[in-house]
Amino acid sequence: MSASSEAIPVETLRWQGTRLELIDQRALPARLEYVSCTSAAEVAEAIRSMVVRGAPAIGCAAAFGVALEAKRQGHRTRTEFDAAMEAGFKTLAASRPTAVNLFWALDRMRAALGAETREDPKAAAARLAEAALALFNADLEANRAIGRAGAALVPDDARVLTYCNTGSLATAGHGTALGVIRSARDQGKRVSVIACETRPYLQGARLTAWEMIQEKIPVTLITDNMAGHLMRLGKIDLVLVGADRIAANGDVANKIGTYTLAVLAERHRIPFYVAAPLSSIDMAIADGSAIPIEERGASEVTGYAGVRWAPEGVGVANPAFDITPAELVGGLLTEKGVVMRPDTRKVRALFP
Ligand code: MRU
Repeated sequence: MSASSEAIPVETLRWQGTRLELIDQRALPARLEYVSCTSAAEVAEAIRSMVVRGAPAIGCAAAFGVALEAKRQGHRTRTEFDAAMEAGFKTLAASRPTAVNLFWALDRMRAALGAETREDPKAAAARLAEAALALFNADLEANRAIGRAGAALVPDDARVLTYCNTGSLATAGHGTALGVIRSARDQGKRVSVIACETRPYLQGARLTAWEMIQEKIPVTLITDNMAGHLMRLGKIDLVLVGADRIAANGDVANKIGTYTLAVLAERHRIPFYVAAPLSSIDMAIADGSAIPIEERGASEVTGYAGVRWAPEGVGVANPAFDITPAELVGGLLTEKGVVMRPDTRKVRALFP
């Protein structure tokens, strides 16, 4: 699926009307395979198990999950249909807690469903499919706009340190922080990427490295604990990351380890920017302390892909995200432009 004329380099989500095809991000970079979903429950499981991940991509997948459920339930009476849809919304909302894009997308889909008052559930199903597709296309456009706005902050020859994966794999296409890098490259700037491997789930080593190679953007992989050393040696010009949820005061929840990078960047006076669409901003949350942080399973820390390196019996903590306070954020790069040194007043102004 591609509603826009510009090619999408990596098709993370493919809407096929009666099914949603998702790149299985667990298999990358070894294999490029798709998983097919036909119901809200299957999409929820794909989100939970990280077939699809990255805040905007999770939101898009959830919207398509609602559309799939509506199609599946189209033969029912409207009352039965509404009850089945309510169950579908609940299942999707329970898949992962931190990325607000999931709840933002579900709210949008709920509004689309509420606006369709005709008795025939098939009419509601058609409207929900349109709404999901519109949400997907809007995310793609937002990413391109973030890229245009953010590229101005990337100097020629910049060596950009990035974290986790914020590219086409994490969005409807183009990407947020990686989208800024893509846009800077498309403007003729020479840009190279330093990708942190992003323990425990290795989104940087597996996904960002793979995406940059597809895009022919020079990329160097480091382990997470090398970042400070490279900064001290003057080998990083800029840090660019994404967000899973941004509070009203500009505090940022992002992949665990982002906070450490922000502190290091401040210590070394390196600009630290967060690229994210407005759908990642949660105006209902005053500051980062109220953002729910997902705790994931111990096996991600004690080993990887079936290989265990930690001894049996060890205690494990696995918070998947951390909070970077707004005071460490040099700028929020959004589709509405760049907000330098974000605070509540400036963030609120993004939502007139
Ligand atoms: O656990 P993940 O892989 O879903 O975490 C993703 C991130 O933390 C990304 O940095 C964030 O969602 C921004 S993606 C454009």
